[in-house]
Amino acid sequence: MPRKRIAVVGLGYVGLPLACLFAEKGFGAIGIDTDAAKVDLVGRGQSPFPGKEPGLAELLCKVVRDGRLVATSDLEECGKAKAVFICVDTPIDEDKCPVLDFLKKAVGDVGKELRNGMLVSVESTLPPGTMQKVVIPLLEKSSGLKAGRNFFILYCPERINPGRSIESLKKNERVIGSIDSRSLKKGLEYYSAITEAELHPTDLLTAEIVKTVENAYRDVQIAFANEVALVCEELGADAYEVRRLVNTSPFRDMHFPGSGVGGHCLTKDSWLLASALPEKCPPLISAARAINDSMPDHLASLATEALRETGRRARGSKITILGLAFRRDLGDTRNSPALPILDRFRRIAQVAVHDPYAQGSRGLSVVRDVYAALEGSDCAIFVTDHSEYGSMDLGRMAKVMRTRIIVDGRNIFDAEECRRRGFVYKGIGKGERVSSSSRSA
Ligand SMILES: NC(=O)c1ccc[n+]([C@@H]2O[C@H](COP(=O)([O-])OP(=O)(O)OC[C@H]3O[C@@H](n4cnc5c(N)ncnc54)[C@H](O)[C@@H]3O)[C@@H](O)[C@H]2O)c1
Repeated sequence: MPRKRIAVVGLGYVGLPLACLFAEKGFGAIGIDTDAAKVDLVGRGQSPFPGKEPGLAELLCKVVRDGRLVATSDLEECGKAKAVFICVDTPIDEDKCPVLDFLKKAVGDVGKELRNGMLVSVESTLPPGTMQKVVIPLLEKSSGLKAGRNFFILYCPERINPGRSIESLKKNERVIGSIDSRSLKKGLEYYSAITEAELHPTDLLTAEIVKTVENAYRDVQIAFANEVALVCEELGADAYEVRRLVNTSPFRDMHFPGSGVGGHCLTKDSWLLASALPEKCPPLISAARAINDSMPDHLASLATEALRETGRRARGSKITILGLAFRRDLGDTRNSPALPILDRFRRIAQVAVHDPYAQGSRGLSVVRDVYAALEGSDCAIFVTDHSEYGSMDLGRMAKVMRTRIIVDGRNIFDAEECRRRGFVYKGIGKGERVSSSSRSA
């Protein structure tokens, strides 16, 4: 018999692994999602996520087969649970403002099923202040119960690493924001069952700020690396070598530059943080977002420049974009840097897209064979560093491509080797003057 029933609302990249893990630990897990296709797949024990996610597909299959995880679209089912974990998406709109519609709908529906003694833990990333201003009032209004007195409430932001979700759920330390000591005690019972790592108690607001700050901090660090990459390109230096040497100095931890920041989190969590101060947008955070958002366009400009050097123009050329997913070996294309590059070229050039995992959408087809995608191509733009790109055969590329151009957004190739093989090579952070002088040295 299962220990206790829990419900997870939102079976996305965060909610599904969480539900699986609770089921593995002996809880009876009810997975709830408004997306009927996702519910159908999960109910059959199949992961809806393409790409490498070690352990998830096997675990999902097992817990569904054993009847320890069931999937449904019926929000009323959460009334059968002792604890409900809310993991719905919290995106931003075109004006960078938080869209809390999914959260409000989920919270309102959970509130209708709330009973005395239940625990509600929100794991979605939130603009600071949302628990006190939105979640708790909505739960109290729709349930007629009082937070702290009749039900327990937590904010326990997720720290899952895409591509390592099960491992990171078990191993990553977590911050638990609670309304009072009783809620905290109740929450620790559940979270200590699924995680081996330390759990750090705090209040709701601090936990909300911590989550958005940890992602804003990473975004700023990446933006700094990107800024250095642009400087190195101007000066004719290699930003990757600069980074390696900078990091030999104590207390330095410079990040890698690259073709841009994608995914559901880093692209919006800075704005969730900033939204808490509508009159005073923190300048460093917004500058970092602007730098990272400009990188795909910069990569596309390197491609245009390379085409020009070979006497071609983008118009009428065949351009191959390699890596539609936003991160190595995943199939997740949300806010991928490949998308603006695709938009820039698809109106004027013939564009082929390769990705080992990502699905096409918006009338876009994705080629699975990398050399087929490069057939007759004038320019190969590597946006994502999928593992298979690390072992590309330059000789075969040279044979199948019409024009030998490599534009490298992720430091995948050795610039000198590419040039020796007759390619025009351009890369983020790869200044050319030093490369040519070291060639002649
Ligand atoms: N993906 C990550 O790596 C990651 C890491 C840490 C935190 N987060 C945060 O966790 C949250 C979820 O992210 P995600 O990547 O899992 O999103 P996702 O889009 O993959 O999943 C969200 C799911 O919620 C479902 N949903 C939306 N409204 C619903 C409702 N009212 N009732 C039931 N289901 C509903 C959607 O159909 C979707 O399947 C976000 O706030 C995100 O910022 C994500």
